[in-house]
Amino acid sequence: MADDSVTPSFLLRAPRYDDVGAYAVFISDPEVTIWLEDRCQRPVHFHHALAFVLGEAWCRLAIESEGRFVGMAGLEDYDPGNGVARFFIVLGDRSLSNRGLGTAVLRSLVSRGFRDLGLRKIVSNYLAPNIASRIIHARAGFSEEGVQRQVAWRRGEWVDQVLVSILREEWLLER
Ligand SMILES: CC(C)(COP(=O)(O)OP(=O)(O)OC[C@H]1O[C@@H](n2cnc3c(N)ncnc32)[C@H](O)[C@@H]1OP(=O)(O)O)[C@@H](O)C(=O)NCCC(=O)NCCS
Repeated sequence: MADDSVTPSFLLRAPRYDDVGAYAVFISDPEVTIWLEDRCQRPVHFHHALAFVLGEAWCRLAIESEGRFVGMAGLEDYDPGNGVARFFIVLGDRSLSNRGLGTAVLRSLVSRGFRDLGLRKIVSNYLAPNIASRIIHARAGFSEEGVQRQVAWRRGEWVDQVLVSILREEWLLER
């Protein structure tokens, strides 16, 4: 039986065709998608999941933990001129929530972005009520850049989006 007090080990690998069905199930779960973009609030078809999981991307990786595919994460919207990319994560297997996996994956991708991919800055954002997302970004050393007010309608109210980022020099100091 899994020890819930220990962060599950994980690996980040290239996505595969057999991840697509599981990902389609993950993003059909409103508890997983509630704080994602508006397009993720609509019904999901297999071809949407296929396009996302296997579509061309700069750094889009499958998360594998406890021997199975559990979600996707990566660095997107790469801007080579400015050395900037945007972090994203979807942990779809909720049995692993709140055990440190999101924080560990984020830290790993930040390291990869600065150490291996030559980034200068990594940006990210989350809807304000997404407390888990706020916590993982703070733990990984992100700072708040600002708030976009009332960008999305969720659970009967308009919610803000928080913009955060980490600079290479901040990551170097935190290591
Ligand atoms: C956001 C997400 C990556 C977090 O992953 P995770 O593995 O649960 O994160 P961690 O366990 O590393 O950290 C979450 C922390 O938030 C805390 N937390 C979660 N919900 C909370 C709440 N409602 N109130 C207070 N704390 C909360 C957890 O207890 C944990 O803190 P702890 O380590 O002190 O117990 C994951 O839930 C996810 O992918 N969700 C769906 C998609 C999504 O929202 N992506 C992010 C979009 S920006």
